[in-house]
Formats: sequence, C-alpha cells, structure tokens
Amino acid sequence: MYFMKRLSVVFMLFFALACNNAGNQNTVKKDSVFQISAAAYQQEIKGKKVDLFLLTNKNKMSVFISNFGGRIVSVNVPNKTGGFTDVVLGYDSLQHYFNRKENYFGALIGRYGNRIAKGKFQLDGKTYQLAINNPPNTLHGGPTGFHNQIWDAKKLDEQSLELSYVSKDMEEGYPGTLTVKVLYHLLEDNSIAISYQATTDKKTILNLTNHSYFNLNGAGSGTINDHLLTINADKFTPVDSTLIPTGVFADVVGTPFDFRKPRAIGDSVNSSSEQIQNGKGYDHNFVLNRKSSSDMELAATVYSSISGIKLEVFTREPGIQFYGGNFLDSSLLGKKDLHYGFRTAFCLETQHFPNAPNESSFASTQLIPGKTFETKTIYKFSVQ
Ligand code: BGC
Repeated sequence: MYFMKRLSVVFMLFFALACNNAGNQNTVKKDSVFQISAAAYQQEIKGKKVDLFLLTNKNKMSVFISNFGGRIVSVNVPNKTGGFTDVVLGYDSLQHYFNRKENYFGALIGRYGNRIAKGKFQLDGKTYQLAINNPPNTLHGGPTGFHNQIWDAKKLDEQSLELSYVSKDMEEGYPGTLTVKVLYHLLEDNSIAISYQATTDKKTILNLTNHSYFNLNGAGSGTINDHLLTINADKFTPVDSTLIPTGVFADVVGTPFDFRKPRAIGDSVNSSSEQIQNGKGYDHNFVLNRKSSSDMELAATVYSSISGIKLEVFTREPGIQFYGGNFLDSSLLGKKDLHYGFRTAFCLETQHFPNAPNESSFASTQLIPGKTFETKTIYKFSVQ
C-alpha cells in the first residue's frame, strides 16, 4: 500500500513535470521535461519524515511542497503557448536545501519575517536578544527559523495540504509556545491560497510570510528586470544601510519606488538614489493602500510578455516586501542545475513591517494568549 502510494506520487511528479517548461530569456518553450524525484525529498530527520507533496487542479496546474520548511518547491502554471512554466526557484533534492547559499527558497518564514534591529526587542519591560544571523540584525526568525523546521503534514485532498508546527517557548529567543497552522490550497482559478493561524501561551511577537522567489519566464531563465510590476502603495518604508526601516513613511511619487502603474522592474533599479543604494536594488517594504484592515485586497501584479504569465498577489497584511534578487549570484545552482543569477527572481512577501517590535508607529506584531492570529495571502496566476 505504502509502495503503491509512493509509486503514484512518483508517477504524478513525472506527469506534471513532463508538462513543465523552464523557458528562456527570449522565448517560451511549450514543453520541456523537468525531472524531479519525490525520493530526493524523502528522508527522516530527527525522527520526522520529510516528503514532497503534490497539489493539482483541473487545469493541470501543479504545486510541489515539502514539509521541510513548508517550502514551495515547484509551481507549474499555464503559459501563453499552451504549455507550462515552473515559475519558482528551488532545488532538485532536499540535500541541496542544506548546502546551498540561499536559505529561503519557497519557505515559510517565522517567527518574524524580515529584520529585527540588532536582534533585540522588548515586551512588558523585558529585553529579548535573538541570534544575529544577518549582522548586525536578525533576519527571518534566525538560523533555526520556520524555514529550517520539519512541519507535520496532512494532505486534506488533491488540492490542499495542511502543515503544523509547534515552536517551543524561547525557541530562537522568542517567548511563548507558538502553535502554527498553515494551509496551502490550490484553487480552480489557478490561485495558491496560503492561510496562516497561530496561538501562543505567553505574550509574544510574530510576522509570518512565504518566501517564494518567482521568475515568470521560468526559474533559471534570466533577468526579471523586464517583468512589469504594479504595487498598490503610495508609500514605502525607507531603510538604513543595514536594511532596517528608519520609521518614516515616504511618498513613492517621483522615486524609483513608484510602481502604482505597471513599470519594468529594471527601469530604475540602477538608480543612484540613496534608497536603491541601501537596498543594493529593491529590498523594501511597501505600505499597501488598504480599504479595510482585514479584507483580501490586491497588493501587487507582475506580468511577463514573454511567457504571457500574470501573477496577482492578494493579502490581508498591511505591507509587502519587494525584493529583486540582489543577493542571488550565478554560482548558485538550482533545479536542473540552472544558474540562479543576480536579479533573476523577485519576492513579494506579504507581511507586517520589518522591525515593527521596535517602531511604535508601525502596526503591532504582538500576539497574546487567548487570541488567534489569522492571515491569508493569495498568489493568483493567469495568462494574458
Ligand atoms: C530580505 C533580503 C534577504 C532575502 C533573503 C528578503 O526578504 O529583505 O534582504 O536577502 O530575504 O532571501
């Protein structure tokens, strides 16, 4: 029975990946076989089973997720040729997630997405010190953040996977036992909905997100500077040279950060503006224009005319980190040994603002016992 189940996952993988397409910089190939073996993800770590899970819908869109870090490994979406393009960066095997330079491909991020200045924050007069893994700051929950944890996985049906993780009191320096549940749901309209829930037994802070790196022409297919980006934000949060927000909300008007109308990512990415220099390109949190504080609203849209693929991001969060892949470099080998070079992927991480625990003017990221933290983000794909 177990063997049959494994065999069917392997079959599904090859079926979905046979429809897959890596694309290249100027054209999109209709079909190109991309081989990934579920076995390359099956391993027992610290008594927990790591596996690769496949979600598919009636349009044959497929999403592969590993419970190692709750990572989205591959997302195969229809392109304008009638074939499929794998639009996220990742690795061919679990092992590569342990020994390659980029740590966050596709991962669930927690307890705190993005940076906390000098790894310090206070709660009720007590100072907490976190690991400094991005000197002089803490980044993405620290070295053993949620991206490096083995989540419990329950496949609910062909289109949904539930992941859960209990983060112990003071794990990575954060107070409270935090119980987190994340539901990945592939919808019939080619959306991936990610729903997050968390509770704590002591007052704590949290900021959960997903860190997928996208290239709408296919992972490893060259620059994203030609992609057209729209961000529904009149303001962004400028940063210092260590990428900590200064606390100011700056107008995007007349700056390289004005993406209120579709604009090529590369238009101003080499500007000499201080903010672009501080981010080494785009690595900034945008303050989303919101009509309500909790409804799902459109935050950003990205489109590539090469593949014809459009990505829309909807969220309940107040902010989005637009990161343009400035720290990628071509020594990084991804799936199929393709090079993941400088600015060949972008991230749109829905979130509360970086360093909010130390900025009283930013929306609070505190969670208290008895309350349930809930948020949701949708990545919706279509062809235009
Ligand atoms: C950060 C970048 C960082 C990247 C790591 C982004 O969320 O803003 O500064 O290099 O994550 O993958």
